[in-house]
Amino acid sequence: MIRGIKGVKDILPDEVGRWQLIEATARRLAEVYGFREIRVPVFEVTDLFARSIGASTDIVEKEMYTFQDRDGTSLTLRPEATAGSVRAYIEHNLSASPTAQKLYYFGPMFRHERPQAGRLRQFHQFGVEAFGCAEPAADVEVISLLWRFFSTLGLPDLTLEINSLGEAGDRPAYKAVLLEFLKTREAQLCQNCRRRMATNPLRVLDCKVPECRAATEGAPKLTDHLSPHARAHFDAVLVGLQTLEIPFLLNPRLVRGLDYYTLTTFEVTCSHLGAQNAVGAGGRYDGLVETLGGSKTPAVGFAVGLERTVLALPGAALPTPSKLIYVASFGPQGAPAGRRMLYELRALGIQADTDHRASTLKAHMKQADRLGASLTVIVGDDEAAKNCVIVRDMTSKEQVELPLSTTAINLQKRLNTA
Ligand code: HAM
Repeated sequence: MIRGIKGVKDILPDEVGRWQLIEATARRLAEVYGFREIRVPVFEVTDLFARSIGASTDIVEKEMYTFQDRDGTSLTLRPEATAGSVRAYIEHNLSASPTAQKLYYFGPMFRHERPQAGRLRQFHQFGVEAFGCAEPAADVEVISLLWRFFSTLGLPDLTLEINSLGEAGDRPAYKAVLLEFLKTREAQLCQNCRRRMATNPLRVLDCKVPECRAATEGAPKLTDHLSPHARAHFDAVLVGLQTLEIPFLLNPRLVRGLDYYTLTTFEVTCSHLGAQNAVGAGGRYDGLVETLGGSKTPAVGFAVGLERTVLALPGAALPTPSKLIYVASFGPQGAPAGRRMLYELRALGIQADTDHRASTLKAHMKQADRLGASLTVIVGDDEAAKNCVIVRDMTSKEQVELPLSTTAINLQKRLNTA
């Protein structure tokens, strides 16, 4: 037997209700906030990710699914969708529009990480990207959508952590100060962090190894080295969040694993999730459109991990049971009458089903129970001969006889008023 790939999961019908609820909530809120859907490909040329996410990030260094196309071009399954959205934004000249371009997307992402609870190799994101607006109000709008999404779903025990990485120009001076500090702690750092000191010293602050965290406890903070503009931007974002009464926690260590960020970065964690507790994250990336060949365009966005959202979703947020009508028909006259009834119910948009293998009332009733039907329409030969059906309420067990010709419309009314 061929099995699925490690870290790549099937989402089975019993789990899909939770996914659909999350996706419908995301879509509805994104549209309420003025975002429009974009669908970008799941694979792109490798260089797009290397140039945007950063050559010395974990994602690009060791997590990408990269392969050669038949003509030798290096292609990569997208590890995230910001890069593809930016490429599409530039390629289709969306910047020509006089209004800000606010885009949202859903879809699978691919990272070759060590699989564990909440960390997969194929996982799914809902994300938004707002292009063209440098105002702190755009950061606040995006964060407020993220916060509202999680609150609407009723996710418990969330923390919004926020930081500013400053502008690109603030970074070199800070890196030098940080490096000086890290050199004094080098012996206590893990192998990976010692390597990062040369390639990407900011990432040392983000290391989860307890010894590294202890060693960098007193590290200089980037927020103490911000340019006046970056400081003012950050302060305005924090005031904006306070105005909307969105609680946040300043986290000067929040540097994120992607290199394109400037100014605001943020992450929402859920304390119920164990090690992989970030349910959503994002930030501003004012330099990325230009880096990828477009004109200078400010942008800010986030992505939510849908698997982690499913894990954190409280049981009570499950969709209400369906209003399924089961049709139990049998006998030479009853069976065809039942099939017509099924066809009619479905034409009215009513969720209706049967089990074509069942040929007795008993077998049908068993299946109706298993499928959780709210009503069962029974049509045997006797009923077909009398042009009627029996409708059984599966909860109260009450039965009524109804004329065959008006049953479907009757049931539609009944479901609408239930
Ligand atoms: P990210 O932090 O890499 O950011 O991913 C966002 C979210 O995706 C994480 O908070 C987590 O919930 C989920 N996630 C990431 N990796 C995995 C995995 N291996 N398994 C399960 N879930 C995972 C980005 O992807 C940026 N593109 C976000 C962004 C949009 N920034 C600006 N715009």
